[in-house]
Amino acid sequence: MSFSVKTKVQIGEENLDFLKNLTNSRVLFVCDPFVVKSRMIDKFTSLVNPKSQIRIYDKIKPDPSIEIVREIKKDLMDFRADYVIAIGGGSCIDASKASIYDYYRSNGSKLVFIVIPTTAGTGSELTNFAVITEADNKKVLIDDLMLADYALLIPSLTRSVPNFISADTGMDVLTHGLEAYISKNANTFTDVLALKAIDLVFSSLKKVYDDGDRVSLRKNMIEASAMAGMAFNNAGLGICHSLAHTIGGNFHISHGRLNAILLPYVLKYNAENSEYARLKLNKLAENYGLSSYIDLIDKIRSLASSMGIPTNLRGLGKIDQYQYESSLDKMAEAAMNDMCTPTNPSIVIKYDLRNLLSDAF
Ligand SMILES: NC(=O)c1ccc[n+]([C@@H]2O[C@H](COP(=O)([O-])OP(=O)(O)OC[C@H]3O[C@@H](n4cnc5c(N)ncnc54)[C@H](O)[C@@H]3O)[C@@H](O)[C@H]2O)c1
Ligand SMILES: [Zn+2]
Repeated sequence: MSFSVKTKVQIGEENLDFLKNLTNSRVLFVCDPFVVKSRMIDKFTSLVNPKSQIRIYDKIKPDPSIEIVREIKKDLMDFRADYVIAIGGGSCIDASKASIYDYYRSNGSKLVFIVIPTTAGTGSELTNFAVITEADNKKVLIDDLMLADYALLIPSLTRSVPNFISADTGMDVLTHGLEAYISKNANTFTDVLALKAIDLVFSSLKKVYDDGDRVSLRKNMIEASAMAGMAFNNAGLGICHSLAHTIGGNFHISHGRLNAILLPYVLKYNAENSEYARLKLNKLAENYGLSSYIDLIDKIRSLASSMGIPTNLRGLGKIDQYQYESSLDKMAEAAMNDMCTPTNPSIVIKYDLRNLLSDAF
């Protein structure tokens, strides 16, 4: 058993004062165009001590490509950054992480990496995972070189997240919590974090979806996201993520929404094929006064439906059936080789993954 957290987690805006104290530093901000247009970035750039230099890379796109990673790395080298501050959702954080990984591997000198998430979702601020898209494949990179030095959680930044994105990212948190909880590598430490994250999602997500201005509930969600991140960074994930990665790479659908749809199918499969997963899910169901994992899956499905998420992939209305069916073999193969598959509680073969892909359509 092992458990570690390298990143210092700080919660609240009062932790931004360090920006005033940076002298003679070169600070590279990484974000997507929204963070600049909405002027969210001004709060941070205006605090940086004038004796330091700033550069902004603002071309992040959802599901970041390898080309974006290369551009950021080039900026890191040209600017000779000693601080990198990633402000954004998982796409921004992952692209920053992958570029830092590349930079270190080409002998770049040590820099300070600060992550400020603006969605309550991926938990990427606390993980050594980065998901990068290359030629329709979402590749998972795992390496401790990508762990942030600081994760600053500022709940008010997530207030502007539209409710459908709150739903998707929140269901991603739930999936991280549940996959970490039944992962092969789960332990008591990861369980505590996963269970608390799951609980916060059940108590807060629908309320945030209904009224995103409730910052105290946004705080619950951003904390849940970070806790689920710590849990899965140590325990690993499972095939819900493997399947979401390959469908996302091929059909460009939001990561959280895919997890939300796939999760009930995958939990049922795991409960039926792994006694360990079934017992743990039954225990979790008991915490909510439910009689078994079957009711727990219903509870998850109801939460997703209450936020307008369909119960199958067809319901998204965005995936061409012929194209999907002709990609089944290729997607099952990619999911089989995904870095999240080895920690799934039941052993899978390509045939099982193909069936799950088919059922979820
Ligand atoms: N590294 C990990 O551990 C990990 C875990 C899960 C998922 N991921 C990856 O992360 C990516 C998804 O990240 P995400 O779900 O955070 O979405 P995202 O970063 O792709 O952002 C989704 C959209 O939300 C907008 N947005 C972000 N913050 C906002 C705010 N405060 N107000 C208004 N709009 C805002 C963005 O501009 C974007 O249009 C996927 O590529 C996924 O595979 C990584
Ligand atoms: Zn995820």
